[in-house]
Amino acid sequence: MKMILLGPPGAGKGTQAKMLSERFGIPQVSTGDMLRSALKAETALGLEAKRYMESGGLVPDEVVVGIVKDRLAESDCASGYILDGFPRTVAQADALKATLSSLDKELDAVVELVVDTEALVERLTGRRTCQVCGVGYHLRFDPPVDGALCRCGGELFQRQDDDESTIRHRLNVYLEQTLPLTEYYLGQDLLVQVDGMGEIPQVQALVLDCLQASK
Ligand code: AP5
Ligand code: MG
Repeated sequence: MKMILLGPPGAGKGTQAKMLSERFGIPQVSTGDMLRSALKAETALGLEAKRYMESGGLVPDEVVVGIVKDRLAESDCASGYILDGFPRTVAQADALKATLSSLDKELDAVVELVVDTEALVERLTGRRTCQVCGVGYHLRFDPPVDGALCRCGGELFQRQDDDESTIRHRLNVYLEQTLPLTEYYLGQDLLVQVDGMGEIPQVQALVLDCLQASK
């Protein structure tokens, strides 16, 4: 299974990708997570990506395409993966297509999560993440049981780009640069749109139905 989860910031890509990864035993390949790890470790990649990520803009295509190519060549991706947050531009989608065809491989599905703008803002402003295990929460929709702590005991943090003005900028960047991918994958007969407005388990059930139907 090689699939893409598409959707705007806050649509639930990371939440759903984690659940699919556990269910199918294939890795979640999140460019956002990889870039945040690089930033935390202060690698050359992290330092290059920092200013784009902090402002809510996109990291240049050639940088992101390079890290995804390397990641997909790792052995745990051999039987499939869930791309989360990549591709985000038509140039990235073209690069992915070229990489896959050079390996004689194809995508199996592209699932787009569709969520109203104001719901996206509410999801992102209330998001908290465990700094130890990376599990995500939402203060209202998926609250941590122990106040400010994760189930694993780790402390929760708020992403630096989750303040409202950066969120609104990320949503504009999405409309300008990523939304064209809907048409791109519709044109390749790969895209399925899923109503992402329901509760997390309901959305997961809809995604699983789509994957079943696209087999
Ligand atoms: P990235 O980390 O990919 O962020 P994003 O696309 O903005 O998406 P998010 O991670 O914010 O949202 P999500 O859809 O994963 O939602 P989640 O599941 O967490 O990218 C960050 C930055 O890195 C970019 O701005 C860019 O600078 C750079 N970057 C990354 N990839 C790049 C690329 N390919 N090219 C260039 N630059 C790149 O859910 C959000 C919240 O809602 C959580 O609290 C969750 O608990 C809650 N929630 C989830 N589902 C539901 C539901 N159904 N109901 C209620 N609440 C829900
Ligand atoms: Mg995410």
